[in-house]
Amino acid sequence: MLRPLKGIFDPADHPDLLVGLDSPDDAAVWRLDAERALVVTTDFFTPVVDTPYEYGAIAAANSLSDVYAMGGKPFLALNIANMPASLDPEIVGEILRGGAEKAREAGVVVAGGHTVQDEEPKYGLVVLGFVHPEKKLTKGGARPGDALVLTKPLGFGVTTTAIKRGIAAPEDIDEAVGWMSKLNDTAAEAARTFGLTGGTDVTGYSLLGHGYEVAAASGVGLRIDFERVPFISCARHYAEQGAFPGGSVDNAAYFGPHVTFDPALDEVDRMLLFDAQTSGGLLLSVPAGKTGDLIDWMRANGRAAWRIGEVVEEDGIRVNGG
Ligand code: CO
Ligand code: CO
Repeated sequence: MLRPLKGIFDPADHPDLLVGLDSPDDAAVWRLDAERALVVTTDFFTPVVDTPYEYGAIAAANSLSDVYAMGGKPFLALNIANMPASLDPEIVGEILRGGAEKAREAGVVVAGGHTVQDEEPKYGLVVLGFVHPEKKLTKGGARPGDALVLTKPLGFGVTTTAIKRGIAAPEDIDEAVGWMSKLNDTAAEAARTFGLTGGTDVTGYSLLGHGYEVAAASGVGLRIDFERVPFISCARHYAEQGAFPGGSVDNAAYFGPHVTFDPALDEVDRMLLFDAQTSGGLLLSVPAGKTGDLIDWMRANGRAAWRIGEVVEEDGIRVNGG
């Protein structure tokens, strides 16, 4: 989408733009001085759950995530809200309250924003954060020998599609909403604490799509052990009912040629790894000697982390079966 912008801005004219269009990443990064760079991002989407407050909270957690995915700390945000004129103002208020309370939990102040009328609701944030210019987490920072660590389970795409189809059980909705609302703040702090350089967040392009972006930007390959990949408890159930969003099908078509699957993995297994996530976890590239300590550190701080594979020299992604 952004390709037409390419020749318009010459990177040589903007030496403080450390991460921009010529090295696409989760957010843009602009150096302020030797110690600080500004991280800037925006994201918004249509409702993924039926409860307005939770929709707002998930959309905000997702918008904030792109700052965390750069290893940064967000501090300031603006609302972006497209709302139907017919929508009850109380519902709009709940969406914005869900977003604002999630931002406050992140230590971020929502200082304004912009609202327009639209047939379908859309909500998200513009987010500003800080990162040390030398300590960024980028898609190009993975190195062969690193372990791949994921900080939220998968299965949010099939579950939100099951909600839209009216077939999701209340306990499954609660489980998915609980994970999607979680901030990636602790994962970003882990990345800073352990001096990581490679990582991203897992969102619409799925584990394999975002994994491929990391592999391509870093000039490496990935090996993923299917048995180690965490899923929320209902993921397989809804996947078997074909509740994949359109984005997951697109991901399989687009990223499939870069992935080799163990023949033991069936179509549902494969599609679950292409499932488009909303507000997923961070996918971190962790030097092998630090992996156990990082996972322990995440648990000690009340968060989860799973080692799901490793970074290798050979191109492409290989997924090992059970
Ligand atoms: Co991202
Ligand atoms: Co994004």
